[in-house]
Amino acid sequence: MTYNSLVILTGAGISAESGVPTFRADDGLWMGHRIEDVATPEAYARDPALVQDFYNKRRRQLGEVQPNAAHRALAELAARWKGDFLLVTQNVDDLHDRAHAETPPATGFSLIHMHGELLKARCTASGRVCDWVEDLDVRHDSPFHPDGWLRPHIVWFGEMPLAMHVIDAALERCDLFVSIGTSGAVYPAAGLVQQARRAGARTVEINLEPSQGARQFDEGLYGPATERVPEFVERLLQR
Ligand code: OAD
Repeated sequence: MTYNSLVILTGAGISAESGVPTFRADDGLWMGHRIEDVATPEAYARDPALVQDFYNKRRRQLGEVQPNAAHRALAELAARWKGDFLLVTQNVDDLHDRAHAETPPATGFSLIHMHGELLKARCTASGRVCDWVEDLDVRHDSPFHPDGWLRPHIVWFGEMPLAMHVIDAALERCDLFVSIGTSGAVYPAAGLVQQARRAGARTVEINLEPSQGARQFDEGLYGPATERVPEFVERLLQR
């Protein structure tokens, strides 16, 4: 069977072998913090120094990591895929972006960071977004609005993920949906597979182990992303 319209969802597992830690450790902590202490609007209002420091550390860490074979395989797929291809990532790192910069995609491709990006900052007053590579100060004056601060351009718990209308539209017409390296614990990302199923798409999960939503997938490919993703891409391109 050939496919025309592809949606791929990625999560922290695709960047794990690049050295970016995943979120859900066995101790329930999130990179050493409770989620509600660093990843909610309330946390930012209560303790902006802690929240900015958490994301400053993660932003700095991007300088120490590189795209891996799984990111590069998806970039190769994006360059050679003849139909529509929407890559939706929950990751706030820039590893997909860097892989696609090395291997420019075909015209039907687009990439959405549904949970935001570490390398962008957002004005709290105007909502305007700009590229950002440095640390953010505790109360960083916004260049866009006299009453605004710059905060990380990250979707925190309780906030709406980005570009959902674009994702919904792509899922309505997709005939192949692939989920890579995500635990399926956070909605709405975890529900995209159901939307794809309703549209009649074939659904495939690639993960280290079966995720919480594994039963929703027609096929599961289990093991490290740097092995399973290149194998899967090769198979898809040979069809
Ligand atoms: P999680 O940390 O919840 O899950 C990572 C998944 O990747 C797990 O199912 C692991 O088994 C799998 N995994 C780990 N190493 C892998 C490898 N080398 N190859 C393949 N799979 C591997 O991360 P996410 O599902 O991405 O949200 O988390 C979703 C969201 O939760 C994040 O985007 C973040 C967090 O709250 C926000 O920041 C809004």
